[in-house]
Amino acid sequence: RPSTVKAKVVLLGEGAVGKTSIVLRYVENKFNDKHESTLQASFLQKTLNIGPRRIQLAIWDTAGQERFHALGPIYYRDAQGAVVVYDITDVDSFTKAKNWIKELRRIVGDNIAVCIVGNKIDLEKHRTVSHREAEDYASSVGATHFNTSAKQNKGVQELFLDLSKNILES
Ligand code: GTP
Repeated sequence: RPSTVKAKVVLLGEGAVGKTSIVLRYVENKFNDKHESTLQASFLQKTLNIGPRRIQLAIWDTAGQERFHALGPIYYRDAQGAVVVYDITDVDSFTKAKNWIKELRRIVGDNIAVCIVGNKIDLEKHRTVSHREAEDYASSVGATHFNTSAKQNKGVQELFLDLSKNILES
C-alpha cells in the first residue's frame, strides 16, 4: 500500500471568478448558479492516486473580495500548490490574477506549484482575455495554465491532476 503525501492547495483570485464553483465541481461534482460570496475560507479534501502514489489534497477556497486580500498569506504561506483563477470574460480579473502571482512569488518564491486558470469557457463568445496572452504569461512566471468551465465540468479534473503531479515531482 502506497504512503500518502499530504498537500495543501489554495485557490486565489478576484470575487465571482468561480473559485468556490471549481472546488465544488471537483470534490462534490456539484454546481450552483448563484454567487454566494465566500467570507470565511474553508477547505475540502480529495485523495488521488497517481500511478503507484497517493496524494491527499486539502483544497482551501478563499474569499475574493478585496477587503479580505490581506488574509491571503495566511492561506498560501504553507501551501504546496496555488490555483489562481480569473474569468475569461473579465480582463480586470486577469490583471488581479497577475497581482496574486507577483505577491505569491515575492512571499513564497518558487517553493509552490502554481496553476493559472481561466474559468467560464462556456462563455467563450464573451471572452475578453486572450488565450495566447494568458498562456504566454503563465509560462513567463513558471506556472501552468488551464481553461475550465465549472458549470460544464470542463478542465477541472485535468487541472488538479496536473497540479498534483507537479507537487509530487517537487
Ligand atoms: P467569491 O467567493 O466572491 O470570491 O467568488 P468565487 O470566485 O468563489 O465565485 P463563485 O464560485 O461563487 O462563482 C461566481 C458566479 O459565477 C456564480 O454565479 C457561479 O454560478 C458562476 N460561475 C462559476 N463558474 C462558472 C462557469 O464555469 N461558467 C459560468 N457561466 N458561470 C460560472
